[in-house]
Amino acid sequence: MSKLTRILCEKKSHVCRITLNRPEKMNALDRTTSLELDSVITDLAKDGDIRVTILSGAGKAFCAGADIGAFLTGEIGRNTATSMINRHLLRTIESCPQIVIFQLHGYVLGGGLELALAGDLRIASEDAEFAFPEAGIGLIPGSGGTQRLPRVIGVPKAKEMIFLGRRIKAPEAERIGLVHSVVPKDKLESHVDEIANELLKKAPVSLAAAKTAINSVWDYSDLEAGLLLEKDLANLCSETHDRQEGLRAFMEKRPPNFSGF
Ligand code: COA
Repeated sequence: MSKLTRILCEKKSHVCRITLNRPEKMNALDRTTSLELDSVITDLAKDGDIRVTILSGAGKAFCAGADIGAFLTGEIGRNTATSMINRHLLRTIESCPQIVIFQLHGYVLGGGLELALAGDLRIASEDAEFAFPEAGIGLIPGSGGTQRLPRVIGVPKAKEMIFLGRRIKAPEAERIGLVHSVVPKDKLESHVDEIANELLKKAPVSLAAAKTAINSVWDYSDLEAGLLLEKDLANLCSETHDRQEGLRAFMEKRPPNFSGF
C-alpha cells in the first residue's frame, strides 16, 4: 500500500494501533479510508508478530459513519467497490488471529458502529454515543449492521436502535452489552493499553483458537446468508427517491421530506 493518508498505523511490542485520522469529517468513511483500512488489516492478519490490534479515532469522534457526500457522488452505494471492500474488511477483522479492540469515544455512528461490531472487545469512554441513523436518510446499515447488532444485543434492542436511530449513551451501551466497559475519557487509552497488556500475557495460539471457536457460535453460513440479504435490501433502498432526499437533506443541513418511494 502506498502512503497512508486517512489512517495512522503504529506497531510496537506486538500491538498495532490504528487510528482513523480524518477528524475534520468526524472520521467519516470514504473509499480511501476503507481501502487503507482493508489493506492494513489484511496485511496484519498475516503478521505473526502482532497479537493485539487497537482501533481508535482522532479528534472529537470515533467515526460518524459512511461518508454521506461519497454516497451522492456514487463512490459508495449499490454494488460499488467500496461496499465490497467494507464487507471484506469487516470479515477480515472477525477472522484474523489477533484480538481486535475498539477504543470508542464521541460519536460512534452508522458504518463506524458496524466496524466496531466486527471487533472482539469494545471499550468506550463516558462521552461515547452510539446510533444507526441510516433510516433517517433513506438507507439501512449495509455493512453487516443488521446482522451483527442483533447477534450482539438481541433482536428486540437491535430493532429499536435501527428503526428509531436514537443515540444511546455509553452507560446504556454497557448495560445492553454493546460495549464491554466504560471509563472516564482521560483514562480510555491507558485502560485499553492495560487490556492489551493482559492479552499479551496469554498464549497467542490459545487466543486465536478461542476467537475462532467462539465466533463459530455465530454460524457463519447463516451470517453469510444474512449479509447477502442485507446487501440486496441496501441496494433496493439505494434506488429510492427517499435515499436521494435523505442524503441531500443532510448535506443541505435541513430535515428530509420523505415521500415513501
Ligand atoms: N459523512 C460526511 N461528512 C460528515 C459525516 C458523514 N457521515 N458526519 C459528519 N460529517 C462532516 C459534516 O458534514 C461537517 O463537515 P463541514 O464542517 O464540512 O460541514 C463535519 O463533519 C462536522 O460535522 P457537524 O455536523 O458540523 O458536527 P455536529 O457536531 O453538529 O454533528 C454529527 C455531528 C455526527 C451528529 C452529524 O455530523 C451527523 O449526524 N452526521 C451524519 C451521521 C450519519 O448519518 N451517519 C451514517 C451515514 S450512512
